[in-house]
This record gives sequence, C-alpha cells and structure tokens, in this order.
Amino acid sequence: MGKTIAFTGKGGVGKTALSAICGKILIEKGERVLFIDADPAMGLATALNVKGYTTIGQAREEIIRKVRTTSPEDDKAPLADIIDYLLLAALHDAEGYSLIVMGQTDTLGCFCSLNSLLRDTISSISEEYDWIIIDAEAGFEQVNRQVMNTVQFPIIVSDNTMRGVKTASMIMEVIDRIPSMTPLRTGLIFNRVEKAEPQLVRNIKSAGINYYGHVPADSDISRIDLDGTSILDISCNSVSMQNMERILSECEILQKT
Ligand SMILES: Nc1ncnc2c1ncn2[C@@H]1O[C@H](COP(=O)(O)OP(=O)(O)O)[C@@H](O)[C@H]1O
Ligand SMILES: [Mg+2]
Repeated sequence: MGKTIAFTGKGGVGKTALSAICGKILIEKGERVLFIDADPAMGLATALNVKGYTTIGQAREEIIRKVRTTSPEDDKAPLADIIDYLLLAALHDAEGYSLIVMGQTDTLGCFCSLNSLLRDTISSISEEYDWIIIDAEAGFEQVNRQVMNTVQFPIIVSDNTMRGVKTASMIMEVIDRIPSMTPLRTGLIFNRVEKAEPQLVRNIKSAGINYYGHVPADSDISRIDLDGTSILDISCNSVSMQNMERILSECEILQKT
C-alpha cells in the first residue's frame, strides 16, 4: 500500500497547487504517483490540465442506473464486474502519473454500501502506486467516506491569517474525531508568504499541529496560472519546488537520501 498525503485547509490557500508540486517532486524521483482530486469542483484535474476524464461520481451514477434498470432474470454481468469496469474508466493514466477525479459524488442521496465498495476499490487501485496524493478540498469527512479510511500524512495549508489558522484547528478536530483516521503525523504549511508569523505558529502548535515550514509566492506558479498550462511543467528550480522538497524531507515524509 502506498503512502498517502492529503492537502486540506481554507479555500484559496493553495491546496491544489501544493498537491501538484508535491506530486511533481515524487514523480521526479521516479516514484509511482496516483493523484486523487477530491474537490467536487475538480481543481486538481484543471491544475494538471487534464481533459476528457470520467469521474467517480459519473461512474457511481452509472452503477446506480444499471442496478435499477436490470431485472433479476436478465443475464447480466455480475455487479462487481460492472463496478471494476467503470472504475477503470475513471482511472486516468497520464505520462508519469495517474489521476482519479471524484467529481460530484453525493448528489443521489445515501448509498452507503456502494460508497464503501467504491472506496475499497480505490484502495485496491492505490496498491499499485508508491504515493497517493489527495487534493482534499472537500475535507477529511469526505475523504474518509469516499476515498480512504485513513491518511498517513494530512498536510494543512494556510495563509498568514488567523482565519486560516482557525480553519486548521477545526480540521485537526475533525481528524481526531474520525475513529478510522489514524495519521502518522499532521502538519501545516504556510503558503504564499515570505515568512510564517510567530503568533500564528504558536497558535497551530497549541492546537496540536506540527509546523512544517512555508512556501513563498512563486512567479513560476503565477506564469502557469496565466498560461493555463499544467503545474507539473514547473521548473525543478522554482522556489515552490525547492521549498516543498525541503519541507517533505525535514518532516520526514520523504526519507532523507
Ligand atoms: N506559492 C504560490 N505562489 C503563487 N501562486 C500560488 C501559490 N500557491 C497557490 N498559488 C495560486 O493561487 C491560486 C489559489 O491556489 P489553489 O491551489 O487553487 O488554492 P486552493 O486549492 O486551496 O483553493 C491559484 O491560482 C494558484 O495557482
Ligand atoms: Mg483547490
């Protein structure tokens, strides 16, 4: 089973950008990376400039439709085969990495057993990878219910605001409240800042969150935003790549080499 990193935090702080940067660092090291876009608005798929994908939400609706329209006498393929087939359609293989886009997965009410079947299948797909990087835009309850039972390395992203830090504390409480979420280590990165404010660092530490470091504003990310190209095309020398790599080593998510 691969190691799992999930990025979460207040809206607009850079979860999607840092998910992509983190994946790029691992891909450059020759690791097999599975990205999971758990943002209902599909932020990571856009940041990686991937088009024409099927989402888990679409696969899920198709499964529900098939179950409803197939009568018991029909010579139907076993449901498990249909699910495997549809999930393979939702696994997008690109050069050097794969991507699963969750999409809208809650529109049809409660199908708890189907959700857990889908989640188990995502877990078994993830065994083929060294790392699973989740853009956890929608939060850990959603990740737990629909993507993975647990995440080894939740990374909370914040800006230099008290609101960002308060959101971080709330996220930490959610992680602690979900019984099956048993992370190895949870920490916070301040993004798009020249330095972390000591007052805010004190706040996150007293909420039981490790302080991992900061990533400055990166003109290479802004350039990519302007052009609409993939964040994975960013230069390895860019300031965000360098800072992120140092953070991943220092907090021992990446073993020092
Ligand atoms: N360190 C950075 N330097 C420059 N731009 C950044 C940086 N981090 C994020 N951005 C940009 O800020 C915007 C919001 O980031 P995004 O990753 O979409 O936030 P979130 O996923 O948390 O909502 C995006 O346009 C993104 O490319
Ligand atoms: Mg996002």
